[in-house]
Amino acid sequence: MATERTLSIIKPDATRRNLTGKINARFEENGLRIVAQKRVRLTKEQAEAFYGVHRERSFFGELVAFMISGPVVVQVLEGENAVLKNRDIMGATNPANAAAGTIRADFAESVEANSVHGSDSAENAAIEIAYFFAQSEIVA
Ligand code: PPS
Repeated sequence: MATERTLSIIKPDATRRNLTGKINARFEENGLRIVAQKRVRLTKEQAEAFYGVHRERSFFGELVAFMISGPVVVQVLEGENAVLKNRDIMGATNPANAAAGTIRADFAESVEANSVHGSDSAENAAIEIAYFFAQSEIVA
């Protein structure tokens, strides 16, 4: 299995509750390496563009408002099968459906305040990583 990279975002509900370290431990304990990381406040324009694929969905306005409601930590995670592995570590979008022991089961507050984002494919991971990071900021 080839080494892969995925984009992760620790969302405002998690930074507000000071959970960055606990969430990062889940990645590291499961074999993912944090090869880039920065804490930022997204602008409305950045959040709208990042979630542009969801623009027509009923919750788009709420999603953008939530993502700019506080700091986020954007990260590049690297490891074998990183995209799917991270989706497994995160758990289902709605914490009510997330498997025991996943980040969302343990930390998420709701389908909106669900603590983490992770790329859903290798193709999208490349696009999302390039959205936030220059190559020189990613140190393997
Ligand atoms: S997924 O993981 O992309 O298949 O999930 P999806 O259901 O398509 O949701 C896409 C993102 O929208 C967020 N979401 C919501 N935000 C606010 N309100 C409601 N009701 C809602 N439902 C879904 C969800 O957390 C996903 O965010 P990301 O950051 O992509 O995980």
